[in-house]
Amino acid sequence: MTTPRNIVVLTGAGLSAESGLATFRGPGGLWEGHRVEDVCTPEALAADPALVHRFYDLRRAALETVEPNAAHQALARLDAEWPGELLIVTQNVDDLHERAGARRLLHMHGELRSALCAACGARSPHGTELPPGAVCPACGARALRPDIVFFGEMPYEMDRIEAALAEADLFVSIGTSGAVYPAAGFVQMAAHFGAATLELNLERSAGSHWFDETRLGPATRLVPEWVEAVLTQR
Ligand code: OAD
Repeated sequence: MTTPRNIVVLTGAGLSAESGLATFRGPGGLWEGHRVEDVCTPEALAADPALVHRFYDLRRAALETVEPNAAHQALARLDAEWPGELLIVTQNVDDLHERAGARRLLHMHGELRSALCAACGARSPHGTELPPGAVCPACGARALRPDIVFFGEMPYEMDRIEAALAEADLFVSIGTSGAVYPAAGFVQMAAHFGAATLELNLERSAGSHWFDETRLGPATRLVPEWVEAVLTQR
């Protein structure tokens, strides 16, 4: 692999697993107690807003009990020290990347610490419980909902992500199962535009065969090792 200049990193729930936040799929996963269509669709929100709001209240409360791990810290170091272009695209709705210090960061699936107004579309910081019917600070409607991209909704900032993928010469996917599109397709898009592609994961993801290289192991080991290597190679 020649020395990269423009890097796009995609992260998923596996990055935060060693901080103590459950992943979505697999044993002990978040969806075990809930069917995904009960909590993560616009239809579920309309049918049972109390259940959906409560589910995300619990996820938000869990943030108080966890800390960024060595993998978040390594990516924050990359952000601070990498002189080229970098975009960290996370599917995670936790705030561990920013608490570790990452800045060149984009939450494509929304954020637990944000509320979205279903009436006017404004997004506002929200750190506490969010009951159905809370008032939007922008328009005053009683229409705040969790700022989470539900199944069937368009992820945030796809234009910016696609532009970064088109310019990338290295795409690195970390701790994601490759089960959810469009994120699962980023590897093919990056490769199409000529980027080298690397997967760091505990086990092979659904799209593992699309990557030039896969390294298997825990994120807290693999990510610091990779960041150290990329910063010393440059
Ligand atoms: P998943 O739960 O689908 O996958 C987690 C991945 O992390 C799996 O491939 C695991 O092998 C891997 N993993 C687990 N522990 C790890 C560790 N310590 N180190 C490295 N890898 C580890 O989570 P996502 O792929 O992030 O969307 O799920 C994608 C989306 O599905 C989520 O963003 C969420 C969900 O629907 C929304 O909430 C909108």
